[in-house]
Amino acid sequence: MAMNIILLGPPGAGKGTQASRLVDEYGMVQLSTGDMLRAAVKAQSEIGKQAEAVMKSGGLVSDEIVSGLIGDKLDSLNADTSVIFDGYPRTAAQAESLDEILAARSRKLDHVIELEVDEDALVDRITGRFTCAKCGEGYHDRYKLPKVEGVCDHCGSTEFKRRADDNEETVRTRMAEYRAKTAPILPIYDARGLVTRVDGMAKIDAVNDAIEAILKA
Ligand code: AP5
Ligand code: MG
Repeated sequence: MAMNIILLGPPGAGKGTQASRLVDEYGMVQLSTGDMLRAAVKAQSEIGKQAEAVMKSGGLVSDEIVSGLIGDKLDSLNADTSVIFDGYPRTAAQAESLDEILAARSRKLDHVIELEVDEDALVDRITGRFTCAKCGEGYHDRYKLPKVEGVCDHCGSTEFKRRADDNEETVRTRMAEYRAKTAPILPIYDARGLVTRVDGMAKIDAVNDAIEAILKA
């Protein structure tokens, strides 16, 4: 049976880092609306043009756009493929859309995993973040350096990049958006008994172990 899980947490909580571990270990598919939007901006598609300035400011892109991206992506997957939602849903309207999107595809939500983090540490995590320009593997200046300096562990590329919205000012706006619009959706899932909280301040491996324990339970 395909699993459908949501990783929820503020910017820098480790959603992308943990999702990519689950992709490697279980062959799950990561659906990151942030990654999809960044690809659209890079391609300068209609959606990309609409999203670019909003993302730069740290605000949220429209619910219609992101729910449309998620629905399309799910349609391209086999029904038995397990999925991790990373950075979606982010508003009550998106949570409602996700229910409809899943029901229409005979999927059901299995877990909402909240990565609990100390906000003060997040600016440090985000401003130190960089990724492989070729495969997208995520790194950090202090917490996760490539095993061989300047060479991606995953694909061997020597080119890396940093995100346009990873500066302190934008991060503060992204956090405020999370507090105002995303954190309030947790009670919706709590009421359905779907939420498990994980200590996102632990080491990357320990967070991964905690998530695996939830998936295996
Ligand atoms: P998105 O790309 O989703 O960004 P975000 O939510 O701000 O989250 P991040 O990707 O910054 O953090 P993360 O939790 O993935 O952390 P990571 O694992 O990289 O969205 C970007 C923008 O797109 C939004 O602002 C919005 O404009 C738009 N958007 C996207 N989705 C949308 C939606 N649904 N609706 C509307 N708009 C939307 O980790 C961060 C760093 O910390 C890394 O360097 C990592 O190596 C390190 N690290 C991770 N875990 C640990 C650990 N346990 N200990 C130490 N270091 C760690
Ligand atoms: Mg991310």
